[in-house]
Amino acid sequence: MIITVSLIWVVVISLCCCLWLALGIRKRKPGEPPVENGLIPYLGCAVQFGANPLEFLRSRQNKYGHIFTCKIAGKYFHFLCDPFSYHAVIRQGRHLDWKKFHFSTSVKAFGHDSMDPRHGYTTENLHQTFMKTLQGEALPSLIETMMENLQSVMLQSDTLSPSKDRWDVDGIFAFCYKVMFESSYLTLFGKDLGNDKNAARQEAQKALVLNTLENFKEFDKIFPALVAGLPIHVFKSAHSARENLAKTMLAENLSKRENVSDLISLRMLLNDTLSTFNDLSKARTHVALLWASQANTLPTAFWSLLHMIRSPEAMKAANEEVKNILESSGQRVDPSKPQLTLSREDLDNMPVIDSIIKEAMRLSSASMNIRVAKEDFLLHLDNQESYRIRKDDVIALYPQMLHFDPKIYEDPLTYKYDRYLDDNGQEKTTFYREGRKLRYYYMPFGSGVTKCPGRFFAVHEIKQFLALVLSYFNMELLDSAVKVPPLDQSRAGLGILQPTYDVDFRYKLKTQ
Ligand code: HEM
Repeated sequence: MIITVSLIWVVVISLCCCLWLALGIRKRKPGEPPVENGLIPYLGCAVQFGANPLEFLRSRQNKYGHIFTCKIAGKYFHFLCDPFSYHAVIRQGRHLDWKKFHFSTSVKAFGHDSMDPRHGYTTENLHQTFMKTLQGEALPSLIETMMENLQSVMLQSDTLSPSKDRWDVDGIFAFCYKVMFESSYLTLFGKDLGNDKNAARQEAQKALVLNTLENFKEFDKIFPALVAGLPIHVFKSAHSARENLAKTMLAENLSKRENVSDLISLRMLLNDTLSTFNDLSKARTHVALLWASQANTLPTAFWSLLHMIRSPEAMKAANEEVKNILESSGQRVDPSKPQLTLSREDLDNMPVIDSIIKEAMRLSSASMNIRVAKEDFLLHLDNQESYRIRKDDVIALYPQMLHFDPKIYEDPLTYKYDRYLDDNGQEKTTFYREGRKLRYYYMPFGSGVTKCPGRFFAVHEIKQFLALVLSYFNMELLDSAVKVPPLDQSRAGLGILQPTYDVDFRYKLKTQ
């Protein structure tokens, strides 16, 4: 009996193996890039890739050259590793689709109906909505509100209670999360009580923000798993966190808030006028924006502040830059009356802090730029070679390869605060690889049509944050020899990586 059952199992497993060999393995056709199917059915190379994408891709690049194909979770990814060929993918060719992947990922992660107009639930052009409300004329008012909120959160609300006479100790990551989350949440989603200073309502507002932050963190933890295709129901607490966030974003709650940003007001209007979404689906589209606005900004604030505090030269140069800007507009730092303003022009005129942030992002960014082939076509590379790409295959750029390329960035693992400054102390924009000028050398915000529409706001708000902590606080690391924490690879492919542990520092108000 036991022998018969074992025999049946052997036959079933052998049949599965044969089926997998026949159907699950791609054979390279003439003109196609070299292909790796991996050893595990369906997953292919997913496990090796996920463990350390940079190492995996570098080893394949050494073996195969500028382009190669890997099976990952049932899909075939063509990784293009030659930065001089990036434009072949970034300029939006008629063969490539960027919408399919982005819209389906958002549906998987946030649970709203499809926002792809081709699916018939909405006719909103999201790209246009983002450009109109996050860039150009919309930017100054976002910056102004953010500046007020940052100062209020740092000095007036009880989020922090800094003093001139006492050091407060906190983790840099925890500090950045508290200050940046609350300030930018209030900037985008407005305040529950407008300018009402009633203590009980202030407290309720505070509790709502803290609750939202906790729910955000709980949901954010499992975000990579959702993108990988796992259903949210597997993660009970993250699921309820996402639904709690959605409840706070129902129209009946959002409509009570004051000073809601143009982005959220316009999205509410277009949800109501151009879509057939139900109330919950509408709310979930706002959760998607909450996530997009925070998930990369918070770790970027952390890495920028950490690297700046660790480098005495960076601190000195940044302090001087902020002091000069404030002096030139006749402003005095006064923590009891926190009313500093930094206009868009002021913020654009801060090359040192800009370089501090850029260098922090170069070292921590691991985004993946993805396009899907609409049809079979021929991809032309810079070196005149062409490769056949099959319909529905994915073409991927992994800019971390560029950011850590020693032929572009000398000593690439070292933080150099002035790496993006030229000899005149202005923004450096020319980078070379083997004597050839690069068009693409820095890509933490993605590329082409899918480039992050919030990037200007993101950089400006982090500049404001750094300028304000420098103006108001003395800061020191608790352990001056502390090591920079390693990057947590679980989010590789999604944007800015988080640290594997927090780093403690102490701060107190500057005496003027
Ligand atoms: C340092 C902070 C940030 C980084 C590194 C970052 C990075 C990115 C990246 C890599 C993408 C995907 C691009 C692609 O798929 O090729 C993206 C998309 C997006 N980001 Fe950001 N982002 C940041 C901050 C923000 C902020 C503050 C906002 C809004 C206030 C925002 C709004 C968005 C939106 C709406 C999308 C989706 C765009 C679309 O699908 O059309 N981001 N971001």
